[in-house]
Amino acid sequence: NATSKGTYEFYMLKEICEQPGVLRHLEQFYLDQNGEPQIKAKIIDMLAAADRLYIFAAGTSYHAGLVGKVLFEKFAGVPTEVGFASEAGYHFPMMSKHPLFIFLSQSGETADSRVVLQEAIKRNIPSLTLTNVPNSTLAREATASLSLEAGPEIAVASTKAYTAQIALEAILAKALGEKIGNENARAFDLKTAFALAAEGAEQVISSKEKIEQLAQKFLLPSRNAFYIGRGIDYPLALEAALKLKEVSYIQTEGFAAAELKHGTISLIEKGTPVIALINDPLTADLMRGNIQEVIARGASVITIASKKLAVDDDDIVLPEINYYLTPLVSVVVAQLFAYYASKDKGLDVDKPRNLAKSVTVE
Ligand code: G6P
Repeated sequence: NATSKGTYEFYMLKEICEQPGVLRHLEQFYLDQNGEPQIKAKIIDMLAAADRLYIFAAGTSYHAGLVGKVLFEKFAGVPTEVGFASEAGYHFPMMSKHPLFIFLSQSGETADSRVVLQEAIKRNIPSLTLTNVPNSTLAREATASLSLEAGPEIAVASTKAYTAQIALEAILAKALGEKIGNENARAFDLKTAFALAAEGAEQVISSKEKIEQLAQKFLLPSRNAFYIGRGIDYPLALEAALKLKEVSYIQTEGFAAAELKHGTISLIEKGTPVIALINDPLTADLMRGNIQEVIARGASVITIASKKLAVDDDDIVLPEINYYLTPLVSVVVAQLFAYYASKDKGLDVDKPRNLAKSVTVE
């Protein structure tokens, strides 16, 4: 059943392995035979009436929001802001004339997001919650809500909810873009893109022994680590770093690759692991330069590159999929690094110290 660990040692691994299935289910659930989004007209009309989208969330859901910004701006052409709910509740951002708030929350109960939703209700700002728990508080109190359809997520570290949030944001971006006549939205073949993303995620999962070996060799002996990326790999680097540090206690930072040299490169020592993500064709050459910079300071670099951009000695080569959906595949590598770094240290992967699955205090 959906809440048993089955043959898996930890829920986290089970939930990582469920992601291809979650993508296929979302495709069935939200797209018709022709790959057209099937979202209630009421919700699309509400999105189309907005001149700006404001995404609020916490933790991993916030990182899914950062990817959502890229998707909404590319495929719907609507300016999109992303904020920590915990900050917005007390320092309310300046609003456009017709804002729409989107709440991303696996649990639908995060207190910081609830504070922002209450403020939105007071100000008559329409809202949409994307949550894995359809009868949760954030779902009930928002103007509308959509289900992430990821199935129960039990490990404290979120994995499949992140994937479902990005997939649903892509569906909404296409639906909204088509509604308001965006060319990119019409050309966005989501059905194929989801199928390839699911296959890609599966391919990563089937290479998990290799990922475990890399984790043992480079991550386990280290106190700290870095993820670097540009373009859509930057928000991915933030999520990858959060995953690794929260379950393995290896202090990890995610960086926009070129920013390292504005200070943080001073932390690179002999053997410091730097995991480089190379999915963005526009900046792939610049990434290679950034990798050389850290190698020159002694870093042990692990490279993760999509097929078209890969070179011979890259450590992990990802199958080619739509650039805007590459986080759906790359994140699986990062989740597996985190999982093995934690498990092979003998930690309780599903229940990292000091953390709660859902944070219901401000
Ligand atoms: C907690 C969890 C995280 C989660 C965050 C936001 O900190 O440990 O995994 O990303 O809350 O939770 P939500 O349910 O709102 O997505």
